[in-house]
Amino acid sequence: MSVKMNHHTAGEIVPRHIAIILDGNGRWAKRRGLPRTAGHAVGSENFRKIALYCRDIGVDYLTVYAFSTENWKRPSDEVKAIMRLLGKYLHEAIDTMERDKMKMRVFGDVTGLPKELQDLVAQTNEISKRYEGFQANICLNYGGRAEIVQAAQRYARDLAEGKADPELTEELFSDYLYSSGIPDPDLLIRPGGEQRISNFLLWQCAYSEFYFTDVLWPDFSTDELDKAIAVFRQRDRRYGGVKA
Ligand code: IPE
Ligand code: IPE
Ligand code: MG
Repeated sequence: MSVKMNHHTAGEIVPRHIAIILDGNGRWAKRRGLPRTAGHAVGSENFRKIALYCRDIGVDYLTVYAFSTENWKRPSDEVKAIMRLLGKYLHEAIDTMERDKMKMRVFGDVTGLPKELQDLVAQTNEISKRYEGFQANICLNYGGRAEIVQAAQRYARDLAEGKADPELTEELFSDYLYSSGIPDPDLLIRPGGEQRISNFLLWQCAYSEFYFTDVLWPDFSTDELDKAIAVFRQRDRRYGGVKA
């Protein structure tokens, strides 16, 4: 069972793991006559708010898609602005995460990020080792296919060195993914109006419930999250079986 009873709201089911594609920042800014980067700035602030809310309502894991392996295609000024904002976010997280009891993990090819960001990620990993609790996973330079390929490569290497069981199971393979040890997302939310997966968590969302909304990420409030969770509660998760 991958959902748990919430301690905060009288026996209501809360998804144990929520994943969100942070989409719509650019359009949010454009509608206000602002540069796209202004949308990224507000979107980044919104992440902090939603993450703390998830923690408070009893979600165990929040995984967000912040920068994909495909997003490097964007104009270099926009990419630079996003990297700067990520740096700012990580700096602030380093100062507050222990107080906020928020662990953090980065999914993606960290070696492809600017050196300053790599150092900040290493620091957040270090801090996260000190306590247990709510965990935010931030997908940076992340692609679902790239994740599966790197997992296959690492498994092959371990196998050649006699360090891996030659009997490859789904469970064993999952250990080679960035999400190793973390249950699959129960609820996957995409704000911003697009109804596609854009190379996010291809392996992990095999049985996730999808929720799409036209609300743009900078406008995605805690009320919107409550709405998504309410819809999730109405879903009948059968995992290929039949209802009891
Ligand atoms: C999501 O917002 C943030 C990133 C992909 C980095 P977008 O920048 O994709 O916003 P839209 O889709 O253009 O509105
Ligand atoms: C998905 O959004 C990636 C992130 C939010 C990081 P995109 O804006 O890049 O996706 P597409 O281009 O609409 O598929
Ligand atoms: Mg987009």
